[in-house]
Amino acid sequence: MKIITSSVAQKFLMALTGFFLISFLIVHLTGNFLLFKGDDGVAFNAYTHFMSTTGMIRIIELVLLLGFLLHFYIAWRTTRHNQQTRPQNYFYNNPSASSSWASRNMGLIGLGILIFLIIHLHNFWFRYKFQADIPLVQGTNYKDMLWLVQTIFIKEWWFTIIYILAMILLSFHLIHGFESAFQSLGLNHKKYTPFIKKIGVLFAILIPASFAMIPIMVLLL
Ligand code: HEM
Repeated sequence: MKIITSSVAQKFLMALTGFFLISFLIVHLTGNFLLFKGDDGVAFNAYTHFMSTTGMIRIIELVLLLGFLLHFYIAWRTTRHNQQTRPQNYFYNNPSASSSWASRNMGLIGLGILIFLIIHLHNFWFRYKFQADIPLVQGTNYKDMLWLVQTIFIKEWWFTIIYILAMILLSFHLIHGFESAFQSLGLNHKKYTPFIKKIGVLFAILIPASFAMIPIMVLLL
């Protein structure tokens, strides 16, 4: 019983942290789109400066970090548990094995996204803080994040490829994650579930595709 309870609690937490991370993605995407406001990065730089210096944002970042850590930790435990309890004949015994490639490889896909996040935080958090040659935005005392974005996606163009591949992984991850999060939270309804599934698939394609467009547009503009 204890195992059942804890596994239910784990699914619940996984879904909750998943929804939290999804809301972060929407906010993050909106902020990143300031890159294309056509004002030479003024709004984008003001936004990223605000993000990196405001006390309240530090607290939100801490909650975000905890959300990520909890999500990864439960995912790692669940994947290990599934590997131990489902031997090779899983495909033949379990009807849900007919499920998608994404649902059977959530652990691996999640690991890919974790590696992307480490690269991404190095690119835009670590380098912004510690790279010495980042110029200052004219007339201000803060660093030019637009310069860093252009350096990474144009001069170091291989990151553009890495980001696009990572967004494909994110899309697979969200397609399955969205649907299973609703199930884990018990939000199942004969009438509404098919609609929710469609919204989930739409979201899982639109959000990563919009993120993937960013390096491509930076390269082209
Ligand atoms: C091409 C797409 C992306 C670009 C251009 C981009 C750009 C940036 C930039 C400029 C920052 C530092 C400033 C800020 O906090 O806003 C940042 C931080 C961050 N990004 Fe992204 N990002 C992209 C995609 C993603 C994706 C897909 C994820 C998650 C899966 C993600 C997760 C994060 C996290 C966790 C931070 C640190 C948040 C913070 O310190 O407040 N980013 N990103």
